[in-house]
Amino acid sequence: MSVQSPKVTFDILPYGADEPWKLSYLWQHIESIIREAARDYGYSEIRTPIYERTELFCRGVGDASDIVMKEMFTFLDRGERSISLRPEGTASVMRAFLEHKLSQERSVHKFFYIGPMFRYERPQSGRYRQFHQFGVEAIGSGQPAQDAETIDLLWEICRRLGLQGLKLHINSVGDAASRQAYREALQDFLRPHYENLSQDSKTRFEKNPLRILDSKDAGDKKILEGAPSILTSLSPEAKDHFDEVRRLLDRIGIPYEINDRIVRGLDYYTKTVFEITADVLGAQNALGGGGRFDGLIASLEGPDLPAVGFAGGIERVLQAMLAQNAALPPQPAPLLYLLPLGEEARRACFVLATEARRKGVFVEVDLHAKKVQAGLQTASKLNARYCAIIGSEEIAKGLAQLKTLATRQQAEVPLNRLIDFCLEEKV
Ligand code: HAM
Repeated sequence: MSVQSPKVTFDILPYGADEPWKLSYLWQHIESIIREAARDYGYSEIRTPIYERTELFCRGVGDASDIVMKEMFTFLDRGERSISLRPEGTASVMRAFLEHKLSQERSVHKFFYIGPMFRYERPQSGRYRQFHQFGVEAIGSGQPAQDAETIDLLWEICRRLGLQGLKLHINSVGDAASRQAYREALQDFLRPHYENLSQDSKTRFEKNPLRILDSKDAGDKKILEGAPSILTSLSPEAKDHFDEVRRLLDRIGIPYEINDRIVRGLDYYTKTVFEITADVLGAQNALGGGGRFDGLIASLEGPDLPAVGFAGGIERVLQAMLAQNAALPPQPAPLLYLLPLGEEARRACFVLATEARRKGVFVEVDLHAKKVQAGLQTASKLNARYCAIIGSEEIAKGLAQLKTLATRQQAEVPLNRLIDFCLEEKV
C-alpha cells in the first residue's frame, strides 16, 4: 500500500506486529495494572483532550524548554487559532483542574491519566513522535510524604509489572530562590568554558542554564564534571524538604541514588525531581520521571497550590519487560472454536456461540468452514482449547464432536451440554 503511517509512529496490533511490544493485549495488561495501582493509591482518572491551545504549553511547560521550542506539533485550526498536540499531560491536567474549579471540591486532589502524547523527536530508538504516557498528579499537598507517595507509586507500578534491576534517581532543584542562586553559580562556573560548550548549551547558557546539566554532548559532559552541585544551593526549607523525602523513602524501603545532575526537561519543577531508569533500555533508559511543581498552578492564574506528579512511558516499560523476560499474560484465546459443516450447522453454531458469549465464554465460530482439517488448523493457530465439529449428522443426533486441541483427544458431547461443559472447564 502506498500510504504508510507517519514517520516515527507505530501501530499497535492484535497480532502480526513486527515487534512484540506492539501487541495490543500487552498494552491492555499494562494499562490494567496501572489502573489498579492508581486506584489503590487513591488516584482517580482524568481525561483531557489530546490537543490544547498552544499558549497553555508555552506557559505550562515553559517557552525555553526544548519540548516547546523544538518538539511541539503546532498548527492553526480553521478558525486561525494556534493549537498544539499535547507533548505531556501535566499542563492539561492543571488547565482542567482550574477550568472546572475543582479546588473548591476538596483540599487534596489526586489524578491519573493514560494516553498518547506527541513530540516531534528526531528518529532514534526509544523515542517516538506519538508515544503513550501513564501519569499522576497530586495537587494540594506540600508535604514531603506526598512526594514520597508518588515516587512509591511509580516504583510499585514497575514492581507489579515484574520489572527488575531498576534505579531510582532523586534530586532537588530547590525553590525559586535556590534555583536563582544555583543558576548564577553554574553560569560563573561555565563562563570560562563558554567557547568550548556545544551550540545547544551556548544557547541555553542565558535562557536555561540548568538544562546544560542534561547535555548528552561528550565535550559538555567533560566540562560539567567539575560543576557545582545544585544541592549546595538549596534554601534551608528546600533542604529540609528533600531530607524528609529521603527519610520517608528509607522508611518504606525504596532504594535510591542521589543524582544532582537531574534537572528534567520541563521548566515547572521545584524541589524534588526523580527518574526511574532500566539499564536494559540503552540510551533512552528513563522509564518514567517527575517531581514537584509548586509554582505551576499559580503561574496559570490559579490558586497558589503545591503539586507533585510523574509520568512513565508505556513503550519503554513494555520494552523493558520483554528485554527482562518479565511474566506476561498469554494472548487471549478462545475456549471453544465451533466448526459447523453445512448451512443448518452454521445456524445452530451461531445461536450456540451467542448463548455462550452471553455467559462470558470466549467462543469463536468458523462461518466459512468447509473442511475439518483446515478448521482445526485455524483453531490451533488461535490457540483455542477445544474445537467442536458439528455437521448435519451431529445436528440430527444433537451432539458435537469435541476435540481437545492440545491432546487431539475427541469425545461426543450433547449439544445442549456444550456451554455448561465449557463453563465447567473455564476455570
Ligand atoms: P518526561 O520525563 O518528559 O516527563 O516524560 C515522562 C516519560 O515519558 C519519560 O520518562 C519516557 O518514559 C516517556 N517519554 C517521553 N518522551 C518520549 C518519547 N518521545 N518516546 C517515548 N517515550 C517518551 C513529563 O512528561 C512530565 N509531564 C512528568 C510529570 C508529571 N511531572 C510532573 N507530573
